[in-house]
Amino acid sequence: MEELALYILDLVQNSIEAGADRVCVFLDQCAADGKIVIEVRDNGRGMDEAARAAAFDPFYTTRTTRRLGLGLALLRAAAEATRGWVELESQVGAGTRVKAVFDASHIDCPPLGDVPTTLAVILAANPDLELCYRHRFGDREFSFTSSELRARLGEVALNDPTVFQCLRELFAESLDNLHGGVNP
Ligand SMILES: Nc1ncnc2c1ncn2[C@@H]1O[C@H](COP(=O)(O)OP(=O)(O)O)[C@@H](O)[C@H]1O
Ligand SMILES: [Mg+2]
Repeated sequence: MEELALYILDLVQNSIEAGADRVCVFLDQCAADGKIVIEVRDNGRGMDEAARAAAFDPFYTTRTTRRLGLGLALLRAAAEATRGWVELESQVGAGTRVKAVFDASHIDCPPLGDVPTTLAVILAANPDLELCYRHRFGDREFSFTSSELRARLGEVALNDPTVFQCLRELFAESLDNLHGGVNP
């Protein structure tokens, strides 16, 4: 995959497939040590020891729609290609936390990609999900929760077709402000 935003989408998809109704995404884009950290936590069904051991195996999947389970394997390969790593913490019934660390200065570090569209897609596809998003860039931060957005929208649902473009623009503007003219 070419973009970090697509790994985020993939991780959130894993959480939803694991039955999570609450997912927190944390993106630390300009950590002091030159790392980019992506962290996704969920309250899904979690994994036992055998599932944790198999999770990074490209041929392991509990889904029935296709046989390969490439998501975590690709994420780890991409992180390690930059001298980074992936941590997995998961307990049955207690949810899952995946943390991927990339070295931003490495030539193979993927670009951030289209985070605003990714977030809007997650919300439109999962209108009842409790999503919290926190994005740090240096000492600045942008964050929102889906309940905040729902409160602002009133009667209009997050998957209303008119909302998608608005959210995408809102997120794009917020990220532009966060980056403050700096091209990350
Ligand atoms: N957040 C999660 N909660 C519970 N199980 C997970 C989670 N993420 C991944 N898994 C388990 O790890 C397997 C491999 O995940 P992944 O590499 O993304 O492949 P896929 O999603 O295609 O199955 C999944 O099939 C699932 O059993
Ligand atoms: Mg997956």
